[in-house]
Amino acid sequence: MCGIVGYIGNKDSLSVLLEGLRRLEYRGYDSSGVALLEKGNIRIVKTPGKIKDLDSLLRKEKISQSVIGIAHTRWATHGAPTKLNAHPHTDCRNNFSIVHNGIIENFASLKKELVKQGHKFISETDTEVVAHLIEKYYKGDLKKAFLQALARLKGSFAIVLLSKKHPDRLLFARQGSPLIVGVGKNENFLASDVPAILSHTNRVIYVKDAQAGEIRKNKVSLFDIKGRPQPVKIEKVLWDLESAQKSGYAHFMLKEIHEQPQVLKHLSCAGIKFDKKLISILKNTKQIFIVACGTAYHSGMVGKYAIEEMTKIPVAVDLSSEFRYRSPIIDNQSVLIAISQSGETADTLAAVREAKNKDAKIISICNAVGSSLVRESDFVLYTHAGPEIGVASTKAYTAQLMVLYLLALNIAKVKKTLPKSVISRYANILCDTHNQARTILKNSTRHISEIAGRHHNFGSFLFLGRNVNYPSALEGALKLKEISYIPAEGYAAGEMKHGPIALIDEYRAVVCIATESKIYEKMISNIQEIEARKGKIVIIATYGNADIKRHSKEVIFIPKVEELFSPILVALPLQLFAYYVAAKRGCDIDQPRNLAKSVTVE
Ligand code: G6P
Repeated sequence: MCGIVGYIGNKDSLSVLLEGLRRLEYRGYDSSGVALLEKGNIRIVKTPGKIKDLDSLLRKEKISQSVIGIAHTRWATHGAPTKLNAHPHTDCRNNFSIVHNGIIENFASLKKELVKQGHKFISETDTEVVAHLIEKYYKGDLKKAFLQALARLKGSFAIVLLSKKHPDRLLFARQGSPLIVGVGKNENFLASDVPAILSHTNRVIYVKDAQAGEIRKNKVSLFDIKGRPQPVKIEKVLWDLESAQKSGYAHFMLKEIHEQPQVLKHLSCAGIKFDKKLISILKNTKQIFIVACGTAYHSGMVGKYAIEEMTKIPVAVDLSSEFRYRSPIIDNQSVLIAISQSGETADTLAAVREAKNKDAKIISICNAVGSSLVRESDFVLYTHAGPEIGVASTKAYTAQLMVLYLLALNIAKVKKTLPKSVISRYANILCDTHNQARTILKNSTRHISEIAGRHHNFGSFLFLGRNVNYPSALEGALKLKEISYIPAEGYAAGEMKHGPIALIDEYRAVVCIATESKIYEKMISNIQEIEARKGKIVIIATYGNADIKRHSKEVIFIPKVEELFSPILVALPLQLFAYYVAAKRGCDIDQPRNLAKSVTVE
């Protein structure tokens, strides 16, 4: 949700900033802009639209070489995505330029105060107040003015400041929204996320909440909000730029779908080292809470089935945005598992803080190293899926499922809730999942794209599943609506008769998950009910089920797997189906309208 880049060094800052913006475009893509120090003055160029629009605008402008600048790609919160509302923003005299990610909650009262004092505002954004506050407080000491301005702000932010009065530095601060420093040789960088700077350096500092700092060409300093120096810890990024590029695939989403076998193999066979203390806390807890949003919430739902089945510990799964407002009965004996790809989702962080206030232990399942969630957790289980750039989550989802299964299995081992033979059978199943995933991608991709070709014009979809594949149905529907904009609803098949059946006619497409399971026959009954009403059925079934063709000619087969573990394999055809439907409709798959990869506001 909004991407920030900053640069100081010897290179042409404009090309560094533009490259960074392109890599952060997944964070927001309704408008963008840059501010450069050009011949002693701040030059700002911005436009609505995507980075390519900014690029073509910049080609028309005559811009002199500049070695310091800031840039921003926006996902609008306050004010429409217009040129005036695009970042960077500036003060009355164009001395201070600001890029910001997050929300300044008290901007209205600050703006009123500043307007009274004579400041002229030109945008509708909350961000512009920051530039005017710095202007107000500036008496020659930039750091002091910056900190005084920060002290007035309420809300969440990552902010970078460029000042023409101090052409040798960029100032920055973070409160709730991600920000990293990239440490180079004779150059330093700022960015919302690692891919923006990875072609220049893999040495990064993850800026913490309530931390501010300054980068110069040869120096990085960090300080707290009172200006007191803080230690600088440089970490090495373990993945390379290749992981953040499309590598020949048409879209990041397709590439990320195809990376799943590799991610699953790494997690299941190389294994995760589970902290003994973590397992012992879980073993003794009476209740586990899971909170998450979007796709991560669906993995949490599957996690409930897995943990309850294997460990007999009751699990309550909540949408983060609901959990925080429903007065959950949680105490120091409870464990809360927060699942998030980005680790920056505002609602999930708020739910975690709610649980922490009640002294619950926090375990996070997260993909992003150094994220806010990771820092606020007592224990972290990384999904190690590598960067996920496509807005629709794919490999992070199946990686979350794998981590949840492995976690459940490890608790079961210690709690002795499963016989040893079952534990080793389950471990083998999980270890083989990557091979089965590879089989699906190899054998079914083309077939799924053909089925998508016959279904991309349907006006709406219903996804049905039962038991552990009920969350799969929700996830299948979410994937389709996110990237194809076709209304799609996921339902527990048993609930079909309580409403959704009214929707079925020959214009309704229904995706039914009917893989081998103890409730297979029940699923077939639902399928027959849809057939009787002429719904257009696509079925996901298990290889070897010759009978299923009697119900529809549109069948996608997946390898045989024990029901409990089937959601990982079921996810793949659902992702591919959504992908190819969206592709046939000519949708912007990696950057669907109105969405953002990480939602850092409520
Ligand atoms: C956004 C994304 C979804 C994602 C959700 C939760 O809505 O578009 O793809 O599932 O946030 O994100 P998280 O980073 O917490 O997993």
